[in-house]
Amino acid sequence: MSRAAAAAAAVALVAAVASAYPVCTARNERCAGADNRPFVKYVGCCDPWPQYECLSHPKAAEDPEKYWGRFCRRANDASKETPSDQATDTSVYEAASLPPATTYASVTRKPATVTKPVQVTESSYEATEPEGTTTKPAVVYVPTEALMMMPATTAGQAYPDKVEEIEEPATTAAETVVPEDPYVPEPPSPVPANGGNPYVGRELYVNPTFTNDILASADTATAGAEKSNLERMSTVASAYWLDLKWKVSLNNDSTTDTAGGILKDAATRPTPPVVTFMVYDLPNRDCHAKASNGEVCCGAKKPEGNCEYLDDAASGTCDKGLAEYTNEYIDPLAVTVKEYCGKVPMVLVVEPDSLPNLVTNLDDPKCGSTATTTAYRTGITYAVKTLAAACPEATIYLDAAHGGWLGWPDNLQKFASEISGLGVAPFLRGFTTNVANYQPLGVKCPSSGFCLNGANPDHECCQDPCGLGAEFNPCHSELNYAVALTEAMSSAISGFEPKVVIDTGRNGQSPRSSCANWCNARGAGSGKIPTTDTAAPEVVDAYMWLKTPGESDGCTNELPGGGTCPRFDADCKSEDSIGSRSDEPRAPEAGLWFDYQIKMLAANAVLD
Ligand SMILES: *[C@@H]1O[C@H](CO)[C@@H](O)[C@H](O)[C@H]1NC(C)=O
Repeated sequence: MSRAAAAAAAVALVAAVASAYPVCTARNERCAGADNRPFVKYVGCCDPWPQYECLSHPKAAEDPEKYWGRFCRRANDASKETPSDQATDTSVYEAASLPPATTYASVTRKPATVTKPVQVTESSYEATEPEGTTTKPAVVYVPTEALMMMPATTAGQAYPDKVEEIEEPATTAAETVVPEDPYVPEPPSPVPANGGNPYVGRELYVNPTFTNDILASADTATAGAEKSNLERMSTVASAYWLDLKWKVSLNNDSTTDTAGGILKDAATRPTPPVVTFMVYDLPNRDCHAKASNGEVCCGAKKPEGNCEYLDDAASGTCDKGLAEYTNEYIDPLAVTVKEYCGKVPMVLVVEPDSLPNLVTNLDDPKCGSTATTTAYRTGITYAVKTLAAACPEATIYLDAAHGGWLGWPDNLQKFASEISGLGVAPFLRGFTTNVANYQPLGVKCPSSGFCLNGANPDHECCQDPCGLGAEFNPCHSELNYAVALTEAMSSAISGFEPKVVIDTGRNGQSPRSSCANWCNARGAGSGKIPTTDTAAPEVVDAYMWLKTPGESDGCTNELPGGGTCPRFDADCKSEDSIGSRSDEPRAPEAGLWFDYQIKMLAANAVLD
């Protein structure tokens, strides 16, 4: 899977469109939409209610100036039809129907600019009007912050008057009776996205399946570092990859190969440990490589099970693939997560490599097709919001590849605007880096660009085994990448101060001839045992084994038991890959146990 897209050096920055406003990212801020119109709180019309759909006013086409708000309506609820008329008095806004911004967002997020309460002047829908609340309007739609969005029909124009109006402070919010959403008895509570480092002060879940696999390898290991490290590694926590639909189910819980089984097992401990899941089953997954190609496809599947990645009419918007992903993967996972919410602490890492592929690999038609880009953007937004709503206490990190992939400033900027555009930042604790890769942790530099152009060659932070500094990439090690990544995010997304978890499962050492070689690197050793004691605690929450050490990155052309591998990726026969030499064993398919590799990772491990 992880491809070190050692993309070209400096690609000219796309000149930012001049705007008086930053691009919208958080609630309650004055910002610009994608087309650079000024909005207040443009994103997430129906946040945090993913089961709602965002609609224009029914009469918007008739008179966009008058009916310019947008509204949230419960999806697929035909009985709750459009009322005959709808709020048109935009001089007053609903403040209290919004989640309080201070709990919604991180502790560092700006508090809400209070908006005026909305007064719904008339409505034909009165069924849920509670008695005796004369000031309480009967509403069919849930007014949200997006009420203040400008009408789509007037794109391209500026609306200084509307913005002024929006910015007036609340004068009557206190006396206003809050209209309850008649269809959601208990709207999901706002997500405490930055509620704290989920790993601090907690035990981490060690999967018995991993322990058994690694002890079986230890039985046949060479005495010395290889064997003793394997024994030590058998008690180390690692994440579990939910890479197939059947693994997310709640009720298939008799083994620790499913989310339900793992959570059930963790819940039996006197103090349930933190369980880390990799959420990894997007339609058209792994679009720029082959080894981990999707289980779920936008279009047709090849006979071997890989996606065709065709951008034909049928798969153009990936409707079929997204329906399969949401209905058969994310929704059942949300049920499982909800069942154990509050009982077992959970960390969810969302879709490794996917958005990074949209930053650097759009010229690969398998990544750049409308089907794949739609699948990734829509799928990830749905996954993050649905899982956050299912369990606000679960901590969500989105994947950010690694410094050798996104570390160039222009790549980081593109990645930050991708995240910004999705509107998921408020639900995230932060990002994971180096997932399933081999980039070194390194030493944090005193300042950004400290080593560029050959500066400070003798400083320990400038050690750069991948030679990235010579390509104008200041993120030559993951600690320096974590700093640059969080800075890029904070400058693109107001109030967002994400934290990072770095995968140290296989980066103790990694003597590769080219750091673009990501598949089963020869000579690699496992890295630091998971800990929250990191070298940059202000940005790095933890080192964690996210890729399960010992699980193959991808197969050699010939499988260990003979036969041809259907998911063979040419990168898995790179000169750095185990199996590319005749005296080495063949590698099994991605995710399968690779005894030779785990022994090598143990023999070369640098665990402390
Ligand atoms: C239940 O889990 C097992 C592995 O523990 C798996 O092989 C099987 O396919 C799963 N069944 C269903 C119905 O998901």
